[in-house]
Amino acid sequence: MIDKPSDMFDRDGEWAQLSRFVTSTFERATLGVVSGRRRQGKTFLLQAMCEATGGFYFGASEVVPKPEALRQLGDALREFTGSPAAYRFQDWGQAIDTLLALATDRPIPVVLDEFPYLARESKELPSVIQNALAPRRTQRLASRARLLLCGSSISFMSELLAGQAPLRGRAGLELIVATFDFRVAAEYWGLRDRRLAALVYFVLGGTPAYRAEQLDGETPQRVEEFDDWVIGHVLNPANPLFREVRMLLAERSFQTSFTTPRPARATRSTWRPSAPMANSSRWAR
Ligand SMILES: Nc1ncnc2c1ncn2[C@@H]1O[C@H](COP(=O)(O)OP(=O)(O)O)[C@@H](O)[C@H]1O
Ligand SMILES: [Mg+2]
Repeated sequence: MIDKPSDMFDRDGEWAQLSRFVTSTFERATLGVVSGRRRQGKTFLLQAMCEATGGFYFGASEVVPKPEALRQLGDALREFTGSPAAYRFQDWGQAIDTLLALATDRPIPVVLDEFPYLARESKELPSVIQNALAPRRTQRLASRARLLLCGSSISFMSELLAGQAPLRGRAGLELIVATFDFRVAAEYWGLRDRRLAALVYFVLGGTPAYRAEQLDGETPQRVEEFDDWVIGHVLNPANPLFREVRMLLAERSFQTSFTTPRPARATRSTWRPSAPMANSSRWAR
């Protein structure tokens, strides 16, 4: 198995699955799909895998028309290969064949991250990949590319492989990167006190990015610090976490992460801020 980088917390199972897929000895190109809600570490995992194996990573940009997306991919390929000549693709067929040709002597991951952005502007892309990976096609048999399509829209990514979809039955890996559960999250936040770990989990859940990006690693170390921590960070209008709930509720990937619909219940909160919260003037100025 490929060594997991030391800055990656947990994700041993995901890393093992990815390693197995990337190093498999199939003498042809193969396809994998990675999905999961935003900020769970999909890009982190895939970039780490590309770094560890010399793979190619491309992250698509949102709302970019097809010619521009192909140009950006061409630029990323030029940087990756060090080619003096530019890659100019007229269509996705050429681009996918060039990606397959990156791995002729040994298997390497070839990642198209934010795949739904690409497919939104190029509806033909799943069919193009299906054709490129046709079982007896020469370019597929000559390639050892481990093509990985990644996206945060769980419904979009699973529909890619479902029913009558062109890529149905083509993928050898379907990896869902889930949020950390309570125990893993407690360890990630470095919280030994179970009560404090539960309180922090009730507020943040198990999204790893919050520590690295929104909180800069700051967590309460004792239960007594919890209220002030909530006020100073989560309820601080200048911290993006303040608006996070609204953002999450608007995200399709979040809505579809709940497979069982829950009945709507009208509830009225009886919760009131505790004394230190009500008295805090830190952000109420
Ligand atoms: N397993 C992990 N260990 C340490 N940090 C992580 C881990 N997973 C995610 N992160 C942090 O969360 C950030 C966001 O993850 P990212 O890969 O961009 O999420 P996604 O692609 O799923 O939206 C990363 O930049 C990293 O700082
Ligand atoms: Mg990402």
